[in-house]
Amino acid sequence: MSEQSVLVTGACGEIGQALVQGLAKRGGCRIVAADLAPLPEAIKPLVAEHLQGDLVNKVKIFYDYDFDIIFHLAASLSSKAEVAGEEAHRINVEGTMGLLMMAAYRSEKYHKPVKFLFPSSIAAYGFPNLEAKHAAGRVKEDEWNTPHTMYGCNKLYCEKLGMYYSRYCGQRHLDPEPPVMLDFRAIRFPGLISAFTLPSGGTSDYGPEMLHHAAQGIPYACFVREDTKISFMAMPDAIKATFMLMDAPREKLTRQVYNIDAFSLTAAGFRKRARAAFPAAQITFAPNPRRQGIVDSWPEDVDDDAARQDWGWQPDYDVDRFFEEYFLPEMRKRYKRTSARTNE
Ligand code: SER
Repeated sequence: MSEQSVLVTGACGEIGQALVQGLAKRGGCRIVAADLAPLPEAIKPLVAEHLQGDLVNKVKIFYDYDFDIIFHLAASLSSKAEVAGEEAHRINVEGTMGLLMMAAYRSEKYHKPVKFLFPSSIAAYGFPNLEAKHAAGRVKEDEWNTPHTMYGCNKLYCEKLGMYYSRYCGQRHLDPEPPVMLDFRAIRFPGLISAFTLPSGGTSDYGPEMLHHAAQGIPYACFVREDTKISFMAMPDAIKATFMLMDAPREKLTRQVYNIDAFSLTAAGFRKRARAAFPAAQITFAPNPRRQGIVDSWPEDVDDDAARQDWGWQPDYDVDRFFEEYFLPEMRKRYKRTSARTNE
């Protein structure tokens, strides 16, 4: 079988790096990366070609490539997008629109549906207050689609754009011979935690930040209240889900946008786990009202039954396995001296 041609935008971000590593491990593909930043050493040898620069200006270049699959990860995350809204809209919406148009055009012209994998987010949801959030329980994909943030609005709208370009664009889907359209699939990710990289610009960042600080023995002031609860997931599960959705036969999919879930934990729960592993960890709480408001509008838990039924989704890491089998072993390896000191 010939190699698949794959584009990964936002390749230098947290998901991007993990995804490139996952793709290289699976093999059988030629990876083209795109990002504002130069490629980190960890993924440099795995990438055939890197297009560095502003995606919005670069989209026209991609018309010359024959991509089978596009992972469009480049985005301005929720906290950053809130302070630079216009720029976030440009990156998150205009960038996505440009790529969707390119993928739709190529799908039709060459009669081959380009697969377009899009990371959406729990930020697509929005609760008016904490009472509604607590009462909602496990939220289904089509409930509470009333985001409070620029990032959430951008993600929700781009989901709709993806559906539009893959189903209705040109309004020829009812023609006797409808055109070949792109194959758009999206996952609404919870907060993601990697043992290898740190997030920046997001609002679920307090979880990974707290853990990485604790592992290094650096004091951490958490920017949300102790009772703050949203769902989180280990990065390997996020990559696993992306590949599962990518591989799922199209006829099995009853939707184009899927929730996935692993575990929910409060900020106090993170502190408890961090302290159990690193007893010297200094963790305090200094809520930032704006960032608190953002996480308060996000669900505590999501209903991922559709992903489980349609493509067999199941996370490998619940909260115990996340700490014991993924995060802590890696931290102990990386920050050996720190943890040795804290165990004295
Ligand atoms: N992790 C993202 C953020 O905090 C949410 O998808 O912005």
